[in-house]
Amino acid sequence: MKPINVGLLGIGTVGGGTFTVLSRNQEEITRRAGRPIRISLVADKNVERARELVGDRARVVDDAFAVVSDPEVDIVVELIGGYGLAKALVLKAIENGKHVVTANKALLALHGNEIFAAAQKRGVMVAFEAAVAGGIPIIKALREGLTANRIEWIAGIINGTTNYILTEMRDKGLSFETALADAQALGYAEADPTFDVEGVDAAHKLTIMSAIAFGIPMQFSAAHVEGISKLTREDITYAEELGYRIKLLGITRRTARGVELRVHPTLIPERRLIANVDGVMNAVLVKGDAVGHTLYYGRGAGAEPTASAVVADLVDVTRMHTSDPEHRVPHLAFKADQMVDLPILPISEVETAFYLRMQVVDRAGVLADITRVLADNGISIDAMIQKEPPEGVSRTSIILLTHKVMERNVLAAIERIEQLATVEGEVTKIRLEELGN
Ligand code: NDP
Ligand code: HSE
Repeated sequence: MKPINVGLLGIGTVGGGTFTVLSRNQEEITRRAGRPIRISLVADKNVERARELVGDRARVVDDAFAVVSDPEVDIVVELIGGYGLAKALVLKAIENGKHVVTANKALLALHGNEIFAAAQKRGVMVAFEAAVAGGIPIIKALREGLTANRIEWIAGIINGTTNYILTEMRDKGLSFETALADAQALGYAEADPTFDVEGVDAAHKLTIMSAIAFGIPMQFSAAHVEGISKLTREDITYAEELGYRIKLLGITRRTARGVELRVHPTLIPERRLIANVDGVMNAVLVKGDAVGHTLYYGRGAGAEPTASAVVADLVDVTRMHTSDPEHRVPHLAFKADQMVDLPILPISEVETAFYLRMQVVDRAGVLADITRVLADNGISIDAMIQKEPPEGVSRTSIILLTHKVMERNVLAAIERIEQLATVEGEVTKIRLEELGN
């Protein structure tokens, strides 16, 4: 049977993995897709390196626009990254009637609304399984497997680089810098690794999942984003003493007041499966009203795990490309005219429990002052530890876990606590999620 022709834009980590997996498993993939899927044209800035990789199996050019306009190409796979050139290429491919497969979560989180509208109008597919959680088929699960459910919330470890860094720091005592350099060498990190470290990459992925789960437009600019750069070893250790692990979580939840969309370090009870997801592994916990909790686990970054998702999309598009566009699974799970515009809650309006750490002068009455401020702000304490200061030291740390409370109350309490004469420096606050219901 006539092969379907793929034009590949960018043959770096994921592009290289895609070429390798597709070549290695060609026979089985053909049996599944019903016809061969062939990467016939590749564009990369580094033509020499690309030619070495593909040999005589594909033509290599340096002009990506030549690929999206080539009449022989049926599907364009965008694996360059970024949102300037990538956006122009994807829109051009759509305009030219080509289906698109991309792993580019930044592009979709920022420009997905425009891209999906263009694709819908032109009757082509834009597939993006690899954009969220690497090799885990979470888009398929959310869009198809859980379609009977009213999804209540999603909480995920969705950045492999930061989870790898946190694990290496905790288990091997590596410094932040060394662990990050290792993650980069392993091909996990973004071109700009601050996207990983500061939670931006996770927020891109969360924005996409939130849109699919609740049938809302992509609203990345409304997401609350915090990374791991301010996390200290001290907090990781105290959290463990209290029975918790700290993970960078992306959380999106439907509430009566709006949708929560937030990425931040989070204490999770160590008995939860997701608290034990280490290294580059990702995990996404989804709560649906019918199914209850479901957990999806796998490699969140790297050449072949991500290629696994890219190739799955290629097979899907190959199977569906002659079908009536009306009968395809909608890009964002809901029919394009059935999307709703729910507001995203500002973080000050979000309710969670908190871990609070403060350094105090070890003197009678300090604790009473602090608990009074908390009570004044409607914050009730769930657990507390006070560290014994070493001999001759008059300062100590107090660590408190609160019950669930509106974030603005905690911010008000922290402001007052920091003004107490017996409290030194800033109060550290980390959100806590039980993830039990
Ligand atoms: P790489 O940097 O490894 O690959 C990008 C490739 O595109 C490079 O070979 C680069 O060449 C080439 N390129 C850059 N600009 C152009 C251009 N103008 N024309 C043609 N080729 C160009 O990135 P990754 O493979 O890691 O990531 C690709 C995409 O996949 C990104 O959107 C990323 O977010 C996403 N992703 C990555 C994952 C991972 O684990 N790495 C996992 C999931 C998604 P050169 O090297 O010379 O700049
Ligand atoms: N930089 C991303 C990560 C790649 O570390 O998770 C996968 O999307």
